[in-house]
Amino acid sequence: MGIRIRSIAHYVPDRILTNHDLEQMVDTSDEWIRTRTGIRERHLAAPDQATSDLATEAARRALERANLSADELDLIVIATATPDHFFPSTACLVQRNLGTRGQACFDMEAACPGFVYALQVARGTMMAMDYRYSLVVGAETLSRVTDWTDRNTCVLFGDGAGAVILERSSDTEDAFLSAFLGGDGSLADLLVQPGCGSRNPASPEVLERKDQFLKMKGRDVFKHAVLGMQESALIALEKAGLRADDLDWVVPHQANIRIIEATRERLGIPKEKVYVNIDRYGNTSAASIPIALSEMSSRGLLQKGHRVLLVAFGAGFTWGATVLRWTVS
Ligand code: UT7
Repeated sequence: MGIRIRSIAHYVPDRILTNHDLEQMVDTSDEWIRTRTGIRERHLAAPDQATSDLATEAARRALERANLSADELDLIVIATATPDHFFPSTACLVQRNLGTRGQACFDMEAACPGFVYALQVARGTMMAMDYRYSLVVGAETLSRVTDWTDRNTCVLFGDGAGAVILERSSDTEDAFLSAFLGGDGSLADLLVQPGCGSRNPASPEVLERKDQFLKMKGRDVFKHAVLGMQESALIALEKAGLRADDLDWVVPHQANIRIIEATRERLGIPKEKVYVNIDRYGNTSAASIPIALSEMSSRGLLQKGHRVLLVAFGAGFTWGATVLRWTVS
């Protein structure tokens, strides 16, 4: 009995915001953004698109590729830090959009590593509940919690969604060779959306302070991110009984090219084995890894049997890594 990835797909909104567009909005430069982050452009949701809309489009594509109808799903999990509402869950809205009902639905909030967390949570739920098919989506509209007057943060983030269908069956070898998840709440204040939750409900004062938007101590986040990525990757490799040389691909969370480079160097992995698309999408948080995997799959870069390390970190702090045997042809 094992769980495999049956299909993968992604969706990003059409609207593109380039670094040159940002130069018109805040005191920044294309050169600064490119050299400090690796980002050239990012996709932004249209005014009438919310996280559930991006997630639904990615889900429809993944279902089509799996040749499944939404009614065949047993579970819907959406990893997101930017849900449409606190409740109902974005997963319930995706279920409604897909025109189905009855499945277990919930959102998974673990910030940027949300998709890595959600894979394990879905996997555990499938085993506990004897489920056959699950939809797991990483989806974000970070543009809605970004302060577009704050150059320290607004150059970094983008919107998008990536979806996988997981299948559990008796004649399948498990695709998951290892996983490691971690967190440290003592670092919670380094990256936070302070307002509009139960701590500081929406009020004129909250809006005055712009506390509905995310705030970040970038340099501190950077330092912990590098450590979290490196530690997670090494532990997941060790748990899988593999060396870095045994990997075909590393797919890191796309937050900053310098964080990706530092992780790559620590693992001793050649550049060609690390997938990077931050230049075109920016940081899409929980969507970043499934978007990258979907793109790689479409470009024929991932082949059945490839050993792929996923590794991420984010607000919380949370971090995690998993080693997969790729199962989509
Ligand atoms: O998924 C998790 C989410 N977050 C992250 O992964 C973010 C991790 N952190 C980072 O990626 C980096 O810390 C940043 C890209 C956010 C910033 O890069 P940095 O090399 O750490 O720059 P810094 O914050 O140390 O700032 C250096 C200078 C400062 O000016 P002064 O004080 O040296 O005069 C900033 O004010 O760069 C300035 N600066 C900018 N200049 C032009 C900060 N943002 C900008 C900007 N354009 N957008």
